[in-house]
Amino acid sequence: MSDLQNGREAWASRIGLILAMAGNAIGLGNFLRFPVQAAQNGGGAFMIPYFVALLLLGIPLMWVEWAIGRRGGQFGYGTAAGAFGALCKTRGSAKLANYLGALGISIPIAFAIYYNYIESWTLAYSVFSVTGKYFGITERGAMLDFLQSFQGLKVTEHFSGLATAFVFFFITLAINVYVLSHSVAQGIERLAKIAMPTLFIFALILVVRVITLGTPDPAVPENSVYNGFGFLWNPDFSQITQAKPWLAAAGQIFFTLSIGTGSILTYASYMKKKDDLALTGLTTSITNEFAEVVCGGSIAIPVAVAFFGVAQTADIAKGGAFNLGFAAMPIIFQKLPLAHILGSMWFLLLFFAGITSSVALCSPAMSFLQDQMKMSRQKAAMVVGTVLLICGLPVVLFLGHGFLDEMDFWAGTFGLVVFAMIEVILFAWVFGMKRAWAEIEEGADIKVPSIFRFIIQFITPVYLIGLLFFWGWQDGIPILMMEGKPAADIPYLWGARLMMCGLTVICLYLIARAYKNNIIRDEVVADLRS
Ligand code: ALA
Repeated sequence: MSDLQNGREAWASRIGLILAMAGNAIGLGNFLRFPVQAAQNGGGAFMIPYFVALLLLGIPLMWVEWAIGRRGGQFGYGTAAGAFGALCKTRGSAKLANYLGALGISIPIAFAIYYNYIESWTLAYSVFSVTGKYFGITERGAMLDFLQSFQGLKVTEHFSGLATAFVFFFITLAINVYVLSHSVAQGIERLAKIAMPTLFIFALILVVRVITLGTPDPAVPENSVYNGFGFLWNPDFSQITQAKPWLAAAGQIFFTLSIGTGSILTYASYMKKKDDLALTGLTTSITNEFAEVVCGGSIAIPVAVAFFGVAQTADIAKGGAFNLGFAAMPIIFQKLPLAHILGSMWFLLLFFAGITSSVALCSPAMSFLQDQMKMSRQKAAMVVGTVLLICGLPVVLFLGHGFLDEMDFWAGTFGLVVFAMIEVILFAWVFGMKRAWAEIEEGADIKVPSIFRFIIQFITPVYLIGLLFFWGWQDGIPILMMEGKPAADIPYLWGARLMMCGLTVICLYLIARAYKNNIIRDEVVADLRS
């Protein structure tokens, strides 16, 4: 049973919290995005900026977001709109911080809007694996045609429109709404308790299957799993002096750990004041890294090299995560015994990874509607579901015009860094590092190394500023100016931007209403004046 604190729900158990937080983090990013990023950015050399980003950004920001969330929860706030104000000493700064907190609701919901659609493909493909719908297609080009016709980008004998994609999109939405309409203990925590162990069992079975493949075709000995691991892990140090792998690694750390999404903050707000966050936060990060580096790194790329060879796999990786996950993998499964089972395991693994992340991305909006708009959980779930549906339609319909990619850059990449920057500055500099450190140490089951005090105060913010600068320079400005985009796509890209801005404006309006109704208050800052 979940306890109630400040009239808010709480996690039923510590293991439930860890699994839910791990589910929040472990997602499509671990199994699709990570291997492709690593392969594209210098293989083993990518892991140096990756672990640097994990230590200097990932783990510190994980603790920061947990601490802000747990503290906000004590005042009845489950999102940055409220929790940020609780870090400030004056009414004016609290108000400004709370309005900035709108991003902690609009960014994750924008993220969830397109993430849900990708998640629905994994559900569709697990069904196709059982029914054998893609069986018989043995060429990569033809499998890509299959994927693109499923996505409505082409007409083939397999799909002549978006009907099937819509069916799975609606089913995925309905499952998300169903989970969200239950209490955190009965919905998210229960889902995580089923999905996480299942995911790890499936992942380990697939890893063992891949490793034991050896050299599938003795006539082509260079196409082996070992060379696959070599391709992924042999360092190409020529890339390490460039900005690209550093930016890619930091982006991957944000995406995979779900930091800067506001969803960790919301999950942490359901903790009690004395609940440990130091060890639990670290355990979540380690669990995610195990799923990513060990499991995510041992499936798709090694198996692709074993069947296609290094050159073709590099080409697949260049084509992106979907090319690897949805076009290359279904061909490979068909070459193995128990193809239906392995295929369904792979796509169900992705679906479980996806759904535990998408419900997390919706949770800030859920919490705001419940706590600040005083809606029932069921009503809030219906509202969130309606937003996902209405805003998801252009994502489905205009995929070919770059609508999803545009949202992925602003909400799923750039937005996370901006939000994390606001978080760390408020926590370390406005709340003050002395209080911030005490907050992290409160109830801690481990002694957090004091070097992290310095990292959180100085290194993480400077790293983030550098990241924003280089990113803005390298990707942000060309993307902002829509450089190289076909003229026909430009209205759709503006549409995606307007939609994301619109979501933020709605959040700002709702925060203003909550202020007016005295549901977000400034008194919480009083305890900082002493
Ligand atoms: N952290 C989630 C993922 O990796 C969003 O997919």
